[in-house]
Amino acid sequence: MADVNRKKLLSVLEGNIETRPPVWMMRQAGRHLPEYMEIRGQAKDFLDFCYTPSLATEATLQPIRRYGMDGAILFADILLILDAMGLDVRFEKGVGPIVEQVSSITDLSRVSDATAADRLSPVYETVRRVKAELPETTTLIGFAGAPWTVGLYAIEGRGKTDKSTAIKWAQGRPEELRAILFRIADASVEYLKRQVEAGADALMLFDSWAEGLADNIFREIIIEPTVYLVERLRAEGVTVPIIGFPRGAAAMLPEYAARTGVTAVGLDTAVSPIYVRDNLPQMLPVQGHLDPLLLIEGGARLDDRVRELVTAYQDRPHIFNLGHGVRPETPIENVQRVLHILREG
Ligand code: CP3
Repeated sequence: MADVNRKKLLSVLEGNIETRPPVWMMRQAGRHLPEYMEIRGQAKDFLDFCYTPSLATEATLQPIRRYGMDGAILFADILLILDAMGLDVRFEKGVGPIVEQVSSITDLSRVSDATAADRLSPVYETVRRVKAELPETTTLIGFAGAPWTVGLYAIEGRGKTDKSTAIKWAQGRPEELRAILFRIADASVEYLKRQVEAGADALMLFDSWAEGLADNIFREIIIEPTVYLVERLRAEGVTVPIIGFPRGAAAMLPEYAARTGVTAVGLDTAVSPIYVRDNLPQMLPVQGHLDPLLLIEGGARLDDRVRELVTAYQDRPHIFNLGHGVRPETPIENVQRVLHILREG
């Protein structure tokens, strides 16, 4: 008998195939929702918003109430860990995040892992509050940025760059870069462990800037630190599924999936169902990968693509999601349309 209180998304992460894929969307909370825009001004700034459990809880729950998503993503940000590690992190309107640039590992050794994790206590409080309010069937996903993507912000000082400063470190100062990435991994282990202790059902590692790296560099800065992070989490007794999302990994995706120890992989917009069929193990759970720009445009092409993705992955564990985050200009009706097709066919 099917358990009506079952978490469908968690079930897929455990390797089961569902007739209708569970769904959530990256950045499902946030600026495309008028209810988020209403509460956003209640905090001094975005960091303060993330550190205020009442606001972060509300922002996490908003898309669950409106859409009934199968997954709730903790409302926080991948850059909180750098703030907790003592770097100056700011979010500027129209610019995005700005981070104090590090010049060596010393800049990331200001506080211990335990102190960094303690500073993130409001996040665990948010997890506890969300967990208490979520429907029994909704999977609560905690997260962190993967070491490379977080490290990139610390080295470049911002995200939208050609990554050349950090890649030059990978080529010319590999030991220094490795120390930084493993340092971030250590702090993240403690952070993620405490999210799970507070009630997260699954974890996700966002490696948003994995695109365009040479294969040897990809191994050193993406695969190896992720292997280390996942192994350490497991050694600490964390057993929940882990979704790895190396956005733009391209030809390195199969190796990432095979070596890192993640339970599932997030697929980006540029991955094709045929590539997935031919290159990823059939029972590896996958999550993705509708184009967020198609979600903005809507219409018959959106309907067709949603059906195409569902059909393409019907024989494997599949969580429906986007290939990257929901954009602020996304019409709510289009999100509802996708959900309608997923639920009704
Ligand atoms: O619904 C959710 O996904 C909520 C939680 C969440 C946020 N950021 C909230 C947020 C998550 C999982 C993230 C992850 C994150 N943050 C990533 C990885 C995923 C990805 O998008 O690639 C990255 C690279 C960041 C860093 C970051 N934070 C950027 C580049 C920006 C500015 C870009 C933008 O959209 O303005 C942020 C700010 C941010 N994080 C906002 C939200 C809702 C916008 C804040 C606001 O203006 O209200």
